Amino acid sequence: TDFLYIGVKLLKWYQTHKRDLPWRKSINPYNIWISEVVLQQTQVKQGMQHYLNFVERFPDVDTLANADEEEVLLYWKGLGYYSRALNLHKAAKQLVTDYNSEFPETYAELLKLKGVGKYTAAAIASISFHEKVAAVDGNFYRVLSRLFADDFDISNSRAFQYFSELTELIMPETDAGCFNQAMMDLGSEVCKPKNPLCSDCPLQDDCRAFAIGKINQFPVKLKK
Ligand code: ADE
Ligand code: SF4
Repeated sequence: TDFLYIGVKLLKWYQTHKRDLPWRKSINPYNIWISEVVLQQTQVKQGMQHYLNFVERFPDVDTLANADEEEVLLYWKGLGYYSRALNLHKAAKQLVTDYNSEFPETYAELLKLKGVGKYTAAAIASISFHEKVAAVDGNFYRVLSRLFADDFDISNSRAFQYFSELTELIMPETDAGCFNQAMMDLGSEVCKPKNPLCSDCPLQDDCRAFAIGKINQFPVKLKK
């Protein structure tokens, strides 16, 4: 198959099937950053209201940087992993002090912010600044391992690097942010962990696991 065509098909599907989510109304890096940090250990349904309350109270970097730590934590109540909220607060101060309250616009620079790891930097760089970088999460592992009937162990510490490289094969030159979010939506709505909806899948014709009747054997996870 023509690998790049897979990404183009996925983008087409996304245009008509994307979920209507509040952080998709703009590509302002502040909003994208908050949403991605909320969603790191939290499902969309559980994180949505917290996201909305948070950006209403702290609408920009300066407001967040100037807030009291206790109040930031109060708005995080219920989400758990409170170091995420403390890091947001620290990074906001860092942005005010070192970046004139503006977000740096590249993956490499975003990585320097407190609490911003590879996934979050890639999500912000691709969605807000159109940089071609893969925001690989568990959805990517599952979709790609099925698509290519690839038995690379997703519990291996090299999985992130491995699936990032696999993503490069299908990622279109433009619309990296839409492509990344299309992978998330396909993974959560169609190519689900259990009982994937292959009959609704835009990539069914390209899917190796489907072709050989082994969708339940992917992804491979050795360590539980
Ligand atoms: N999970 C993490 N980031 C997301 C996003 N931008 N859209 C939907 N689900 C997500
Ligand atoms: Fe996933 Fe099924 Fe689509 Fe393959 S055909 S990518 S297993 S939903």
